[in-house]
Amino acid sequence: SILVLDFGSQYNQLIARRIRDFGVYSELLPPTTTAREILDRGNVRGIIFSGGPDVITDKDALMCDPAIFELGIPILGICYGLQLMAHHFGGEVERAVNREYGMARIRVIHESPLFKGLAHEQTVWMSHGYHATKAPEGFTIDAVSESCPIVAMSDERRNFYGLQFHPEVRHSEHGIAILGKFVFDICGAVADWSMKNFIDEQVANIRAEVGSDKVLCALSGGVDSSVVATLLHRAIGDQLVCMFVDHGLLRKNEGDMVMDMLENEFNMHILRIDARERFLNKLAGVSEPEAKRKIIGEEFIRVFEDESKKLTDVKFLAQGTLYTDIIESGTATAQTIKSHHNVGGLPEDMQFALIEPVKTLFKDEVRALGIELGIAEDMVWRQPFPGPGLGIRVIGDVTEEKLHIVRESDWILREEVAKAGLEREIWQYFTVLTNLKSVGVMGDERTYDYTVGIRAVTSIDGMTADFARVPWDVLQAVSVRIVNEVKHVNRVVYDITSKPPATIEWE
Ligand code: XMP
Repeated sequence: SILVLDFGSQYNQLIARRIRDFGVYSELLPPTTTAREILDRGNVRGIIFSGGPDVITDKDALMCDPAIFELGIPILGICYGLQLMAHHFGGEVERAVNREYGMARIRVIHESPLFKGLAHEQTVWMSHGYHATKAPEGFTIDAVSESCPIVAMSDERRNFYGLQFHPEVRHSEHGIAILGKFVFDICGAVADWSMKNFIDEQVANIRAEVGSDKVLCALSGGVDSSVVATLLHRAIGDQLVCMFVDHGLLRKNEGDMVMDMLENEFNMHILRIDARERFLNKLAGVSEPEAKRKIIGEEFIRVFEDESKKLTDVKFLAQGTLYTDIIESGTATAQTIKSHHNVGGLPEDMQFALIEPVKTLFKDEVRALGIELGIAEDMVWRQPFPGPGLGIRVIGDVTEEKLHIVRESDWILREEVAKAGLEREIWQYFTVLTNLKSVGVMGDERTYDYTVGIRAVTSIDGMTADFARVPWDVLQAVSVRIVNEVKHVNRVVYDITSKPPATIEWE
């Protein structure tokens, strides 16, 4: 395996993910991991030091166990990782005169094994305020840029490499190739890892953690929690109790579909709780998006607690939290964009210990996991659906009538997208009830009714997205049907913003 020591960068999980994409197992470990612990894992082929927000010359900056440098295992330091290595071996690290954020052109001046055969001029993604200005003894400088004197350095004899830029980010032109050279050429790793191994590992972890206790799995109706439930069921069978809370914010037919699959195909034991009134009462009159998210997240947990009191020895709560949810809900270094209900909305006095077996995975990895677990393709390929559900697709305060409009218009959109065969091409598509009323004319009469927004995006992992180029005639069919079939709608608009600067959901 290749281990990534996590010094706190936004991109650190992405490093592990890229390496898993190569078919080589990789995971993120705390920066305090000792050389002994690394040795004890056996078969560690390489170590990567991630970037991070610290300044290595500060007294309390994060440092690795120095004995790691004595293991004889190749090391790649990225950004802060490079600076850590430079500092440790007696080089110099200083505040950059021109901080570099974003794209930069670099020039390779010495073709170390990391750059072998790649263009000598490349565009890379930089994000740093400090950089190394003097390489330690035994290191050569491999690349430079206009404002950064050491973009890359290496000590080939000891297999130590440093990169000031982020190869794991897609904007780094040859980033993946460079990581690949480290993993395969330098570390000699073999591509023999797959989702199947992930399942075996997680099943073993879950069994060890849970013992003979019971786990409550919160089904939301989305792909993630369905996959997590299936994984847990494989690990602990009947110790798993699934609870499907109908919060009244589900799409049309969603609940029945999920229940059907999990009960009939996988033989799971599912409690279906009708909490529609509870949620709607709590949401009544609330229109601020973060307030709505927090209410929905909290109410979820309260429902679980109330219901689980009726069950004995439930100790754990399993959730389908993804890595994207964690980043966007804010971590030590990453800022809060939205409180994803399964992370930021959790009340502090929660009674359960959490199990989140897919929290290191990205959406497309979860889908691959679902397929490997034997879940039907059309279930796995369902588009993502946020935990707060339609509650954040009704802009402003939520009422039964407004939910009805979103549900019906969304259904029409889904039918037309399916008819056009675009389900896989468009990453996510849904309707939003804007809180806007405008004037229209129907028959000979003036109307004053709601505007429905259509959101359809292409994306790989939900972190960035572009609006989907849905053919005009498909949009037209959707629009005509919505205004004709859904009461109180007289106008349909198409959202043509990317993420960033917008987000995928409207709230
Ligand atoms: P945004 O709107 O942040 O959405 O661009 C990115 C992806 O995440 C989904 N999303 C959520 N998923 N809980 C979830 O499980 C949430 O609270 C939540 N909010 C947004 C969104 O549908 C999109 O796929």
